[in-house]
Amino acid sequence: MNADTGSFSEYILKLENVVKTFDGFTALHQTSMIIPGRMVFGLLGPNGAGKTTLLRLITGLISPTAGKLTMFGGMEPGSSEARARIGYMPQSLAIYPNLSVEENMLFFGRMYGMEEEALKTRIDEVLETIELTGRRHDILANLSGGMVRRALLGTTLVHRPKLLLLDEPTAGVDPVLRIKIWETLRKLCDEGTSILITTHHISEADRCDRVVFLRSGSIIGDGTPEELTRKYQADDLEKAFVLATREEAVV
Ligand SMILES: Nc1ncnc2c1ncn2[C@@H]1O[C@H](COP(=O)(O)OP(=O)(O)OP(=O)(O)O)[C@@H](O)[C@H]1O
Ligand SMILES: [Mg+2]
Repeated sequence: MNADTGSFSEYILKLENVVKTFDGFTALHQTSMIIPGRMVFGLLGPNGAGKTTLLRLITGLISPTAGKLTMFGGMEPGSSEARARIGYMPQSLAIYPNLSVEENMLFFGRMYGMEEEALKTRIDEVLETIELTGRRHDILANLSGGMVRRALLGTTLVHRPKLLLLDEPTAGVDPVLRIKIWETLRKLCDEGTSILITTHHISEADRCDRVVFLRSGSIIGDGTPEELTRKYQADDLEKAFVLATREEAVV
């Protein structure tokens, strides 16, 4: 197995009976799941479903109340080797509005200990990918909301993560830009990056290789968009989601 080349046939993430409670409130009920690498894996669910909680558990920012989560064939979340391999784009803004696009990327690259020359070359590449080369010297406060989302995505790509954790990266983004972001994600995936993405948009879930329906901290569906649609004998993924929600209410 080789986690760096992505040639391992095991998993990128493994959850074994993971539970997360906050002061007695269960945000994530007992969850077991294996996520293979090199795919776009979507988490779809309404507000409060536990999507961000799951991503934060994977980053190691919070720890499971019970159960075990391992990454890249056995690494602990939050360990230095796991952190070096992930890029996390949080739901809220986590970069510096008074720094330029390039300065934000320099900051993140240096934080990951990248060597200066390699970092500069990499920043040029990432700016091309997110199509902000012409705006590299603009401070974020002067960019549009969609450009800021792209800059934020750029900062997560600088250190060439193996796994991207993207929490609603297209929230507030116009439909044309949303398609562009998805083209970028698909390209990154084709190049070997694994992507775990949360969304409220069924159309985005439809673009994923595999989707998990999450509701009130429980998985209520898991499969490819086609499998889920077939399983619920629905016309499309949206109807499948509604049917999964109903079925779960009956149980
Ligand atoms: N640090 C915390 N302390 C207490 N409760 C929390 C904490 N973090 C999350 N929760 C609760 O856990 C539940 C799941 O929250 P989470 O942020 O994971 O949902 P989400 O699926 O990301 O929702 P959204 O679509 O609104 O972003 C919510 O009820 C939330 O209030
Ligand atoms: Mg969230």
